[in-house]
Amino acid sequence: MADKTRRTTLFFVFLLSLFLALVPTSSHRPKLRFGRNGEFKILQVADMHFANGATTRCLDVLPTQKAHCSDLNTTVFMTRVIAAEKPDLIVFTGDNIFGFDVKDPVKSMNAAFAPAIASKIPWVAILGNHDQESTLTRQELMKHIVKLPNTLSQVNPPEAAHYIDGFGNYNLQIRGAAESSLQNKSVLNLYFLDSGDYSSVPYMEGYDWVKTSQQFWFERTSKRLQRVYNGEPNPQQGTAPGLAYFHIPLPEFWSFDSKNATKGVRQEGTYSASTNSGFFTTLVTRGDVKSVFVGHDHVNDFCGKLKGLNLCYGGGFGYHAYGKAGWERRARVVVAELNKKRADVKTIRTWKRLDDQHLSVIDAQVLWTSSVNGSVAPRL
Ligand SMILES: *[C@@H]1O[C@H](CO)[C@@H](O)[C@H](O)[C@H]1NC(C)=O
Ligand SMILES: *[C@@H]1O[C@H](CO)[C@@H](O)[C@H](O)[C@H]1NC(C)=O
Ligand SMILES: *[C@@H]1O[C@H](CO)[C@@H](O)[C@H](O)[C@H]1NC(C)=O
Ligand SMILES: *[C@@H]1O[C@H](CO)[C@@H](O)[C@H](O)[C@H]1NC(C)=O
Repeated sequence: MADKTRRTTLFFVFLLSLFLALVPTSSHRPKLRFGRNGEFKILQVADMHFANGATTRCLDVLPTQKAHCSDLNTTVFMTRVIAAEKPDLIVFTGDNIFGFDVKDPVKSMNAAFAPAIASKIPWVAILGNHDQESTLTRQELMKHIVKLPNTLSQVNPPEAAHYIDGFGNYNLQIRGAAESSLQNKSVLNLYFLDSGDYSSVPYMEGYDWVKTSQQFWFERTSKRLQRVYNGEPNPQQGTAPGLAYFHIPLPEFWSFDSKNATKGVRQEGTYSASTNSGFFTTLVTRGDVKSVFVGHDHVNDFCGKLKGLNLCYGGGFGYHAYGKAGWERRARVVVAELNKKRADVKTIRTWKRLDDQHLSVIDAQVLWTSSVNGSVAPRL
């Protein structure tokens, strides 16, 4: 009897070790860091609305383009823009698939992300309001996404999984360049949040929002990252800059039109939640995040600065998403550049790439410049 128990135990230990060997742990995931050129580049892909591939037709293209246009054009655009920009990270900001038209969500997801996977470049995804409109729930979709090759997506951060709302909230830390004084510190912090789909709260109809629990997690994470940044070894002043990516715009995006946004256009409303959950205030108060990047409103692609925080739309990427005929599908690129001497981040710039013959670059602008001096801070 005892022997049998022992054998059973050994068998389970064996199964457990097999399981642990197969489960990808964070230590196997690539660590992100600035390149030797002192840059870290992020490609944002907003609103692919991918469905079933070749049989899924394009929306809002010119009459002459209609006959030969499908989801595959979205795939081709992504392959081209990845080749042109060679980003260090690709971020899909939701409505990756258009659930209503999708026959098999796993197949559609895999096909939608295929060019990113094929590029071997690390990538992450969060969800929009349409991803779960097929047969998989938001949780099931994120659980599938995190198993795909080369992704750094997470379902939720382990330390907050018991309280946080939504699926697809996580943080990525970008270390300083190899062999620089900040090679072991995160000098750029990325936050990904699940802005949900539709409100389930009575009397508050419409789109969802970033919940209090998520803002709490953001604040805790930001403070923890600052403690490490300010701590030994090699303590730094202030906070490392951060960027936040989610799908549904904050109501504060309403503060801009084509005239007073820094660059880009407004061609439709801002379809945010009908209530203001205060995330803008949380971000400005905390101060580390310099820019927010969203999707959702496909024919808006501006960046505007309000109270020191840039609010940027990605602009619609996918051909099965609504758009504007003759107004090219587009993607947003963000580059953070290091201060050569101090090894921390000096500037954050952005531009967009259009899906035209030459992948035109438009609306290049500086989003943020460090106010820390170029000289090395004296050690106390
Ligand atoms: C879509 O792809 C087809 C086939 O390559 C091409 O002929 C067509 O011009 C593309 N349409 C658009 C709108 O880019
Ligand atoms: C970074 O960490 C590595 C490995 O622990 C160590 O060898 C190196 O000296 C550290 N470099 C700096 C600049 O802190
Ligand atoms: C931009 O212009 C609009 C319309 O004139 C105005 O309502 C809004 O307050 C302006 N926003 C900023 C940030 O100046
Ligand atoms: C930058 O350097 C100048 C001159 O040395 C000094 O007066 C100023 O306070 C410094 N600013 C910061 C943010 O350290």
